[in-house]
Amino acid sequence: MLADLKYISGFGNEFASEDPRCPGALPEGQNNPQICPYNLYAEQLSGSAFTCPRSTNKRSWLYRILPSVNHKPFESIDQGHLTHNWDEVEPDPNQLRWKPFKIPKASQKKMDFVNGLHTLCGAGDIRSNNGIAVHIFLCNISMVNKCFYNSDGDFLIVPQLGKLLIYTEFGKMLVEPNEICVIQRGMRFSVEVFEETRGYILEVYGVHFELPDLGPIGANGLANPRDFLVPVAWYEDRQVPGGYTVVNKYQGKLFAAKQDVSPFNVVAWHGNYTPYKYNLENFMVINSVAFDHADPSIFTVLTAKSLRPGVAIADFVIFPPRWGVADHTFRPPYYHRNCMSEFMGLIKGHYEAKKEGFQPGGGSLHSAMTPHGPDGDCFEKASKAKLEPERIADGTMAFMFESSLSLAVTKWGLKTCSCLDENYYKCWENLRSHFTPKLRNPTGHK
Ligand SMILES: [Fe+2]
Repeated sequence: MLADLKYISGFGNEFASEDPRCPGALPEGQNNPQICPYNLYAEQLSGSAFTCPRSTNKRSWLYRILPSVNHKPFESIDQGHLTHNWDEVEPDPNQLRWKPFKIPKASQKKMDFVNGLHTLCGAGDIRSNNGIAVHIFLCNISMVNKCFYNSDGDFLIVPQLGKLLIYTEFGKMLVEPNEICVIQRGMRFSVEVFEETRGYILEVYGVHFELPDLGPIGANGLANPRDFLVPVAWYEDRQVPGGYTVVNKYQGKLFAAKQDVSPFNVVAWHGNYTPYKYNLENFMVINSVAFDHADPSIFTVLTAKSLRPGVAIADFVIFPPRWGVADHTFRPPYYHRNCMSEFMGLIKGHYEAKKEGFQPGGGSLHSAMTPHGPDGDCFEKASKAKLEPERIADGTMAFMFESSLSLAVTKWGLKTCSCLDENYYKCWENLRSHFTPKLRNPTGHK
């Protein structure tokens, strides 16, 4: 069944899709006929203000068996380790690194995608639609008769271990490690898993992800629009009398409402506001072919822009397999201090600047202006390496959530998860001075 899933391709297009069981389900010539084909209900999902300019205006029309409003009242429920309280613990500017976040065994604690959401860090304000959060999801069971939607922002989901079969109002998507998906604000979805499953989520409030501008790169390159995949319409007319739970994250808190039917009852839809997925293998990597480094922004897959030109509230950046060919250059990432906050995760393999310690399923946070760079061993090796063309990062995929916001770490992140690596700072302790005041040119290179 999983291999049967179909998608349509493109980024932010005006898509249209009908479940093939009901041909002609999309009304012709108008959005809101007095009676819709197949006696469906018409419902609009707005992802932008009605009045946004065309370039940013987002909405989709859903033709469904029952409208979403057909539910019992929402009630507050336990929200586990999901939080938007950025003042739980004192700020900490240190370099932080986490060992792989532990997934509970299903025999000890059953956890689905929703109660497996753990907030690691974030900043900003949900009510004013400005901010981000980084969550870790850890789960071992599927969501059954339960869906989730987020009133606060968009989820960019990065599975690291285990596949996600995601049912959405727009259709079904299979998202495997090394793929990502974006479920935008308000879209209902349910996650089926097949094993102990782990991944990362970048949540952005108030804006949507866009492809970065390419400037002098030209019309092609980085993440190409045609490689983004959108599900095709699929519905189920399934009755669950009083037993289907819709979970809503609203102003950072979780609420649940019961209804009698599956919410995946959309027979046809059209519009430019949809969930989508992307395979990171399709990223067309651009980098230096002469000397020095392009800044890591050259690896940006998606960006969530702030109102300040060129400044993202969050970028999703990857470090994919590629060739390293730069001449007379220290090839690993350079030492730096950045006004942005950098959360990094690893989907598979080893990260080039730190062979040890930074493991798949773990993470690191280098906060605003906190220094970081290659560890001592990496520096020694890369300084002496013979500079031939070489494959870099084969078999790996590290990524970064980079934000202009100064991120606060949660209590779960600093204490409760008990994955924090107390010895991280030591990886730089063996950096030693190579200063030779009487020898200007130790390599002899001109
Ligand atoms: Fe950095």
